[in-house]
Amino acid sequence: MIDLRSDTVTLPGEDMRRAIFEAELGDDVYGEDPTVNRLQEMAAEIVGKEAAMLVPSGTMGNQIAVLTHTKPGTEVILEADSHIYYYESAAASVFAGIQPRPLQGHRGSLSADLVKWAIRQDDIHLPPTSLICLENTHNRAGGTVVPLEDMQAVYEVAKQHEIPVHLDGARIFNASVAAGVPVKDFTACTTSVQFCLSKGLGAPVGSIIAGPGVFIDEARRWRKRLGGGMRQAGIIAAAGILALETMIDRLAEDHENARLLAEGLAALKGIDFNPDDVDTNIVIVRPTSMSVRRLGSELEKRGILTVVIEPDRVRFTTSKEVNRDDIEKTITAVKNVLAEN
Ligand SMILES: Cc1ncc(COP(=O)(O)O)c(C=O)c1O
Repeated sequence: MIDLRSDTVTLPGEDMRRAIFEAELGDDVYGEDPTVNRLQEMAAEIVGKEAAMLVPSGTMGNQIAVLTHTKPGTEVILEADSHIYYYESAAASVFAGIQPRPLQGHRGSLSADLVKWAIRQDDIHLPPTSLICLENTHNRAGGTVVPLEDMQAVYEVAKQHEIPVHLDGARIFNASVAAGVPVKDFTACTTSVQFCLSKGLGAPVGSIIAGPGVFIDEARRWRKRLGGGMRQAGIIAAAGILALETMIDRLAEDHENARLLAEGLAALKGIDFNPDDVDTNIVIVRPTSMSVRRLGSELEKRGILTVVIEPDRVRFTTSKEVNRDDIEKTITAVKNVLAEN
């Protein structure tokens, strides 16, 4: 099988499995797991924040951030296609009791002017704006890199209004590698950040949330409340440490493969798509001569897995589990499927 559904399908390699096996452990709810503590210190340093905390998933990391920054009855500004709004089963409304304020971005990026316009006035009729969420890279926009200047502009507006900014940086390392911008520069425009260890970086489980020390102290309480306090979590953290040490630079390979795939697909008749829209490891295309479901199922019959993300759009994601040869096979398979239909 050539699995292009997501970079979440990555499996830990030999070295990672060994690191998991050999991890030094303790009870992390007591703060006594040395491997978790090491990962958290390392992660805080990488994103330039005071403190960091290991959480089981990106979704939990984002939701803990929303819960920690906001109060029920307030409003959270976010991009209309962002993961927090689109893919987290309305968790922010259910758990935090906030009202989302989705704004339309351009290639996943929110304009600072639009954000400024959306921030609520102090008026008894209106919910106070309590948080602004950004996403980089932006998944549903096609793995696009939100430019640093755009994030800086939003952050300036947020600071003027004393509103915190949370970054869903599930794939912030992809953004950093693709743009040649240090992760710390992106995260300097945010109050808190969540990033995933279990996507392109190849760890089996886990995300990090980072921010000011007082924020992480409160976030720790929320993690416990949600049942996310893990005990000998060093078996997860050991993989996370190796991911941060060895897997970041190789994301460039995934980006090259995505680019190759993008160019191959764009050249086919029956695909409407501009390969220049691809920044990182996600390629989202619109077939014009057949339905996406049909395309997906025909590819599956040929051993290629993809994801239908809209009635007319299909997503291909590269990761360490696919190589150049797989990409060439995929282009040929799409070409054959389109020709036969
Ligand atoms: C942008 C983004 N944020 C958050 C998440 C959630 O991560 P998890 O699947 O670990 O909950 C994902 C997962 O694909 C994502 O793409």
